[in-house]
Amino acid sequence: MAPAPTFETIASTVEAIRSQLPDGLKNPRVGIVCGSGLSGLATSMKEVVEVAYDNVPGFAKSTVPGHRSSLAFGFMGDNQKVPVVAMLGRFHPYEGHSLSTVVYPIRVLAALGIKDIIITNAAGALNPEIKVGTVVVVRDHLALPGLAGMNPLLGPTFSSTTPRFLPVSDAYSPALRRLVFLAANELSIPWSDFAEGTYAWVSGPTYETPAEGRFLRAAGADMVGMSTVPEVLAAREAGVGVLVLSLATNMVVILEKYRSIKEEVEAELLGKKVELPVEEVVSHEEVLLIGRQKGEMMKRLVEKIIDLIPASVRDESQK
Ligand code: HPA
Repeated sequence: MAPAPTFETIASTVEAIRSQLPDGLKNPRVGIVCGSGLSGLATSMKEVVEVAYDNVPGFAKSTVPGHRSSLAFGFMGDNQKVPVVAMLGRFHPYEGHSLSTVVYPIRVLAALGIKDIIITNAAGALNPEIKVGTVVVVRDHLALPGLAGMNPLLGPTFSSTTPRFLPVSDAYSPALRRLVFLAANELSIPWSDFAEGTYAWVSGPTYETPAEGRFLRAAGADMVGMSTVPEVLAAREAGVGVLVLSLATNMVVILEKYRSIKEEVEAELLGKKVELPVEEVVSHEEVLLIGRQKGEMMKRLVEKIIDLIPASVRDESQK
């Protein structure tokens, strides 16, 4: 595996990327990270120039099915005026990447000049009120690996002006979150397709046991996933505004009652009929399927949000 990229390489990576772009796309305004099955988000971009991760020094290769491996630069929005860059494929610690490799693209996008980033992901719903297919606008997170010593900001700070102890109680921009609901209203997407909640970051690659699901729910998480939070932290460190849209692709299996094998065997020995419960498990195919089904709606939503961004940021008082 390639060594983890360092801060020193950011300027040369930015230069290598810009050398592959026309002038109008050299300074993207908004970054987009496409989650599992959501690479279609980039299809509404115009004048697209794709830069393969292979041609970007310091970038790894995404190994997850449903993820591509390139940066797509182009223009987005109704007026096709906003220069954006979309990451088609992201890196996860469970692929064996170091945290500095995972967040390197975000640091590079920040150095390219993005002001805001829209991060999407596929995640499991812990909150029973959140149905599969719901878009959860993330307003807080639980960084379990981070709390336990796997924080991507360990090490040197992003720049001499970056605080050593970054406050993240305000990580999720209320101004950007507002735009989701304004965009949904303009697009007449039913209000019931949206929820707000807390995302728990776990390292994966295993899905949760029922006990782990119950633990996370009891700790206040509505959703659980294996990405996003390292990227959020790196973006905030670089002063980039963050919006996270988490698509509920499955319900986390949290049994209300365990099977009792003891009772089943006892009943069997007494000659009684035993009803076996249907065993549920989460599959990556299910996650990708919902991503594909909701991909079109997510694409229109992200496009509309981007349309609304430039006007809103002019009024800094909204932040
Ligand atoms: N758990 C963790 N990560 C996930 C899940 C899940 O249930 N679904 C999609 N990503």
